[in-house]
Amino acid sequence: MPASLHVFDSLPRLDLLDGPTPIQRLTRIEEELGLATRRIALFVKRDDVMSLGGGGNKLRKLEYHLGHARAAGIDTIVSVGGLQSNHARLTAAAAAKHGFACELILSRLVARDDADYERNGNVLLDDLFGARTVVLPRGADGRAHAEARADELRAVGRKVLVLPTGGSTPLGALGYARCAREIAMQEDTLGLRFDRIVVPNGSSGTHAGLVAGLAAMDRSPATVAAYTVLATADSAQRATLAMARDALDLLGAKAALDVDAIRVDGAHLGDGYGVPTTGMKDAVRLAASREGLLLDPVYSGKAFAGLLHDLRHGIVRDGEQVLFIATGGVPGLYAYRADFAGAAG
Ligand SMILES: Cc1ncc(COP(=O)(O)O)c(C=O)c1O
Repeated sequence: MPASLHVFDSLPRLDLLDGPTPIQRLTRIEEELGLATRRIALFVKRDDVMSLGGGGNKLRKLEYHLGHARAAGIDTIVSVGGLQSNHARLTAAAAAKHGFACELILSRLVARDDADYERNGNVLLDDLFGARTVVLPRGADGRAHAEARADELRAVGRKVLVLPTGGSTPLGALGYARCAREIAMQEDTLGLRFDRIVVPNGSSGTHAGLVAGLAAMDRSPATVAAYTVLATADSAQRATLAMARDALDLLGAKAALDVDAIRVDGAHLGDGYGVPTTGMKDAVRLAASREGLLLDPVYSGKAFAGLLHDLRHGIVRDGEQVLFIATGGVPGLYAYRADFAGAAG
């Protein structure tokens, strides 16, 4: 193990996971797509399988954010996100578990105002986890409101940490650099090496962390293939590169990262963040109906749609070992009920 990776264990971190998340083979989808004849194997890493707060990728970043918060004597976490933010929900859950007060400043990023979107899914859970929630009018600056609220709280003696959208900072990204090491250890157990690791790219921390972790282990960062669900491919690529470089600095690793190492596909974003696509709906239904695997409508569903497209069109090459990271977000399905209403109406 490279020396730089010992930083994972020396930085303050709160344990929010239950150990390594499982890697499973998607044999029924392999059959459906006829992948055996092309010697392609399809696996999923279940980053939705974490017992705290419904689980999901944000817990890996929160391990470092909340570790830092505890070490710095913070008592209140203020975070921002869209109305149906999974990061906000998991911040509220982790804060509840570890005794921080939590305030969420939520913005209307998606043009939906039906009852499910407004009240169900993550919004319902934020409330159950005991977070104080403020929903801003469309167009308001969530980060500015969060900073202003933090100042108010500090003025009355509270010690406040403000977390950005998606918890995506170089420190948060270390959670996914650590995940790259976890995957490498699981590869040893499975006796294989993944040629392609597939993720959604929203605020870029997941992708950046994996890239930094791979680079620190002298593995190709271009193993990670991301599908953007928020920004344009160009801007997601730039943001990911910058964050991965900063994460590598935190690791004290010398690896050089080039823009070509950051693979972001913009073809499955559709009409924008949180706007369903036909490909996403088909992908969510396929994963659920063939594998009993729940994906979400905003992130993992669009990334899986991209992967299915690339498998069907020969972009994934014969003989590849593919790992899809199921990043969680399942409560979002309840917010998008109308888009999936089939036989049950
Ligand atoms: C379920 C889920 N998957 C993927 C992502 C994308 O991760 P990142 O923001 O680190 O790019 C997010 C958050 O934005 C998420 O909530």
